[in-house]
Amino acid sequence: MKHFPLSYAAISDKEVGYSNPYAAIRKIPLGTIKPPSYYGGGEIPEEDIVYIKFDAFDTEDIERSAFNILILAASGDGKSKLAKLIWSVLHDANYYCLYIDPKTTNSGNAKIAGPNKFLPPLLKPKGIKLKHYLPMPATKDFNKQVHNFNLFSLDLNDLDERDMWMGLDFTSKGAMRMLKIISELNNKKLSLKHIENYLKLLHHQKDINSQTKSSIEDRLSELEYLRIFERTINKLDLMDDFKQGNSVCISYNSRDKHFMSFDVGEKIRRLVKSHHDENNPRINPVMVFLDDSSYYAKFFKKQDFNLAVSEIQNIGNNYRALGIFNCMMVQTLGIIDEDVAETYPIKIISPLFKNPESLHKINVPKEFIRMLQDSKKHLIQDEDKYLYEWTLVQGGNHVQFFPFMPPCNHFKRVYFPK
Ligand SMILES: Nc1ncnc2c1ncn2[C@@H]1O[C@H](COP(=O)(O)OP(=O)(O)OP(=O)(O)O)[C@@H](O)[C@H]1O
Ligand SMILES: [Mg+2]
Repeated sequence: MKHFPLSYAAISDKEVGYSNPYAAIRKIPLGTIKPPSYYGGGEIPEEDIVYIKFDAFDTEDIERSAFNILILAASGDGKSKLAKLIWSVLHDANYYCLYIDPKTTNSGNAKIAGPNKFLPPLLKPKGIKLKHYLPMPATKDFNKQVHNFNLFSLDLNDLDERDMWMGLDFTSKGAMRMLKIISELNNKKLSLKHIENYLKLLHHQKDINSQTKSSIEDRLSELEYLRIFERTINKLDLMDDFKQGNSVCISYNSRDKHFMSFDVGEKIRRLVKSHHDENNPRINPVMVFLDDSSYYAKFFKKQDFNLAVSEIQNIGNNYRALGIFNCMMVQTLGIIDEDVAETYPIKIISPLFKNPESLHKINVPKEFIRMLQDSKKHLIQDEDKYLYEWTLVQGGNHVQFFPFMPPCNHFKRVYFPK
């Protein structure tokens, strides 16, 4: 196995300037091949460390390799903890990191340093500089905690593609109509009220039939209830926060899953646009951490179109050269069929993953699937000691490892009620 520098002194001049040696050598240390107790707090030999590699942030578009990571696990076996380890390195490697947190606000726990226990050998406890946001629907019944977060709303004028309106469950026809109305109203301070009044006018002039009018009105009243277009609340400028050295977390507090799937898709779409910004193109790659993605990356009943699913599939199929990647954490394969799975060259699987048979369809070595089918026999899993033997599957190979703890905090609360 290849050896890599183990101290700052061994890192070449070009790489100096990173605060994190793993960012400099562009490798994320996932864990060790033997359980932590084996090392007894002493030195960990380099060849015992399992890594994943990544491109430098300033790699040319055309040379970028796909860097999508799929984490398959059960509930509570440490996927968010593992994601925080990956995030800690990528943040320091100048990747723009967006963490989607559908059910809790625990992603923000990463802002302070974690307890110093079984970290990668070259890391010290350290928090991640981050800004934490809630969209308006996530503030419901959360009054005492809201003061800890930044709020954001959306601007109607920014929804300038048909897909976006379809992502809010408008029909294709309704979505086209919304684009037309918004362009006709041409108002920088556009509100839902303006649109409702305009619909009435169009109906009066017989420019819209009653059925289309009322179907649009139904959707608009739901959007009003969700308060996502509140003009008094700022919109979220991801690039602004990223350029100031922040990672960004968005928590949805398990609220409205349709909105969640729209908003996640919308955020990814906006990152794509930022790459093409003529005046200020984005060059740094983006890693979108999709925690518990079964909340939003799936089709809901009677839903024809889901913006999150569409954009996540686009990350795999089309956005590599744009430097937009994702690290998806799921409990079942769900939307991940053979085609989508191919876009995840890195798969990290917990010994508790519930449905090993389903892995046959996503190109995981058969030998490992057999191990997972009888996982108690082949893979260590000790709940009392929080000890789980995970597997990294990459390019037809698999290797087992025991995860390191992230240098940032995972378990300790950082947000308190007023
Ligand atoms: N002090 C601790 N040190 C190490 N591991 C712990 C500690 N306390 C709890 N754990 C383990 O960490 C797990 C939680 O880790 P994490 O939040 O990453 O899991 P998860 O897979 O994201 O869970 P969920 O499905 O709830 O989101 C606990 O279920 C437990 O096994
Ligand atoms: Mg979790």
